[in-house]
Amino acid sequence: MSRAKPAAPRRPLIAGNWKMHRTASDTRTLIEDIVKRVDRVAYADIVVCPPFTSLPAAHETLGRHSIIALGAQTMHSAKEGAFTGEISGPMLREFGVRYVILGHSERRQFDHETDAKVAAKAIAAVHFHLRPIVCVGETLTQREAKETASIIETQVRSSLAGFPPDQLEELVIAYEPVWAIGTGKVATPKQANDVHQQIRKLLVSLFGPTGSAIRILYGGSVKPENAPDLMTQPDIDGALVGGASLDSQAFFDIIESARPARASDHD
Ligand code: PGA
Repeated sequence: MSRAKPAAPRRPLIAGNWKMHRTASDTRTLIEDIVKRVDRVAYADIVVCPPFTSLPAAHETLGRHSIIALGAQTMHSAKEGAFTGEISGPMLREFGVRYVILGHSERRQFDHETDAKVAAKAIAAVHFHLRPIVCVGETLTQREAKETASIIETQVRSSLAGFPPDQLEELVIAYEPVWAIGTGKVATPKQANDVHQQIRKLLVSLFGPTGSAIRILYGGSVKPENAPDLMTQPDIDGALVGGASLDSQAFFDIIESARPARASDHD
């Protein structure tokens, strides 16, 4: 497999989206297993996003100086208020959360998370010192109808409407084709990179040269077997990993695949 990717200007980021898996007590064990494996990883940012109820246990297990950052799977845009069942940015910050996944396709599909809501949440996230991981992706029907480019453009534009340009370094985008999530059907490296390239161009047209520094993750059935070919694509800066992030060895192997060629010579 090719390791020819030039020294990436963007630091790789691998995020684990645990979805609705792991109770607080199971979280401790999984976090301990991951920490043991990633202890010496210096070439990538690593994020784990457990369910809300597991965040305190994860925070406690990670301790203060961990190289693993904590993320949440969604948040409300308001600071507080009469929003039954919701969680706000300041509530997340209190448990050491640094990242928040926004607009995941499961939330778009099951919880009516629209582009407009995602945009409001992304603005709120940076206001509360959280780094938004904004997810976009087309369905199978849309891909087959050759609508991928227009769907992605609309989602990116609308989900970032009003995003403060001085906070761009906090922003992460995740391209997750809906047909590849949890299905075992991964996008080919070229399919994924083509969309990443499109998103990159759009970010530059929206935000100027700073747009090219925004990290774009690929997500959808990322596994240790397919990660190396995805991670060596020039416009793929990391992965948002669902199922495989619940297995510490698989998660570590995916992180390893993001190791830049230069670092592997020395580490
Ligand atoms: P998957 O999920 O890796 O299990 O396909 C990815 C995601 O939904 O973020």
